[in-house]
Amino acid sequence: MKIEVIPEEAIRSRVADLLTEQLKHNPKSVLGMTTGSSPLKYGIYREWIRREQAGELAFHEAKFVNPDELVGIPADHPESYRSYMREHLFSQLQTLRSEPHIPDGYATDLLAECRRFDQLLADLGYVDWQLMGLGLNGHIAFIEPSDHIPAKTYISQLFEENRPTQSLHFRSEDEVPKRSITIGLEAVMKAKSIVLVAAGENKADMVARAFSGPITTCVPASFLQLHANATIILDPAAARRI
Ligand code: GLP
Repeated sequence: MKIEVIPEEAIRSRVADLLTEQLKHNPKSVLGMTTGSSPLKYGIYREWIRREQAGELAFHEAKFVNPDELVGIPADHPESYRSYMREHLFSQLQTLRSEPHIPDGYATDLLAECRRFDQLLADLGYVDWQLMGLGLNGHIAFIEPSDHIPAKTYISQLFEENRPTQSLHFRSEDEVPKRSITIGLEAVMKAKSIVLVAAGENKADMVARAFSGPITTCVPASFLQLHANATIILDPAAARRI
């Protein structure tokens, strides 16, 4: 694992440069995506779309995979991660050819869906290049802090603060997802390259715990310290305590 501290406004181009390098090296890369507020706030996906339009990036042979999805809402629900990805990235790419893979959080047999997703990842040869965010409680994908972390894809109980907020899209509190389907630690560690972005003052404590503290299941992101090819991109505010 290595840490880079760069100005917040440089994040979008640094991540796009790393993606460009990856696709140059392997145009058939399996690209792992992430949701959350950071890709939007720092313009990460907007920069890829801009570069694609400028002819600087192309995804013809690439495959996209998302590591997690909310449980209990259909794929076309406005709050699903599939909808997020469609709106902010996939629908805007001109060179995307293959159907992105995202776990089905509305499957009737969720355990079978977990096994299907593990098989899919194995068939793809795992992810070549994984973009990640850092949850304020130390989660990566939706691997929440716990006294144990499954190796395989599983159903995780979301911490209260990580549930989607009650909004017009949910008729009642009962409809707000409380679980997610997420890859386990095996698929994270088998990603050949990981780029994690964490920026802003509010991430500083967790950045210090995750990347300069002990490796513990209480901070799932701390396992990235063991990854041979993980790049942690921070802005000065998030790096303040390391
Ligand atoms: C969600 C996603 C995570 C992501 C996190 C980061 O919880 N499931 O994969 O890392 O958001 O959130 P943010 O970028 O909003 O801090």
